[in-house]
Amino acid sequence: MKFFIDTANLDEIKEAHELGILSGVTTNPSLVAKEGVNFQDRLKEITSVVTSGSVSAEVIALDAKGMIEEGKELASIAPNITIKVPMTLEGLKAVKTFSDLNISTNVTLIFSANQALLAARAGATYVSPFLGRLDDIGHNGLELISQIAEIFEVHDISTEIIAASIRHPQHVTESAARGAHIGTVPLKVIKQLVSHPLTDAGIEKFLQDWDKTNQ
Ligand code: E4P
Repeated sequence: MKFFIDTANLDEIKEAHELGILSGVTTNPSLVAKEGVNFQDRLKEITSVVTSGSVSAEVIALDAKGMIEEGKELASIAPNITIKVPMTLEGLKAVKTFSDLNISTNVTLIFSANQALLAARAGATYVSPFLGRLDDIGHNGLELISQIAEIFEVHDISTEIIAASIRHPQHVTESAARGAHIGTVPLKVIKQLVSHPLTDAGIEKFLQDWDKTNQ
């Protein structure tokens, strides 16, 4: 499973990028609003840091024509921009057009396997099932990852699954085990993945023992 970072914060993107583990970035309107910046300017900044991995930029229009216009403009910012489209009837039409234009797409707000299958058949590059939001309402987000992965495997579908709305390290481990191609993860969770008390204790012990060698 590859790692994307789920943020519009430039410092966080730079920090994750420096770790050498980053394959892309996802943003959404709420994440951009949190930053209080101009969306297109921020996309230019992000794509100057992440020059090859996919950078998802979400359209706001709800009709296919509007989505296509907005998406074309966003896609012109950099070659690695992926147009994020909500999972609706109009969204599917827009995804088909983007696919014909060779513009990559990420169909967002996926909450069922049928939605994922439809998005894939419309030509989506990525689908984003939102695990955390399903868990929030008492459903099993990880079960959805397994279902989508199985269906895509059985039908030889090349659309990649982005495990999204990830809240904690267990979501990452389980998404990877269940066949998500990508996890889009907040920086806080990336840092949680790194740390382990036995690693910290091990480093401390090695340093203490090294001190005894007087080197
Ligand atoms: C994914 O692309 C979304 O930006 C994101 O994962 C949503 O997560 P949330 O449920 O924490 O807002």
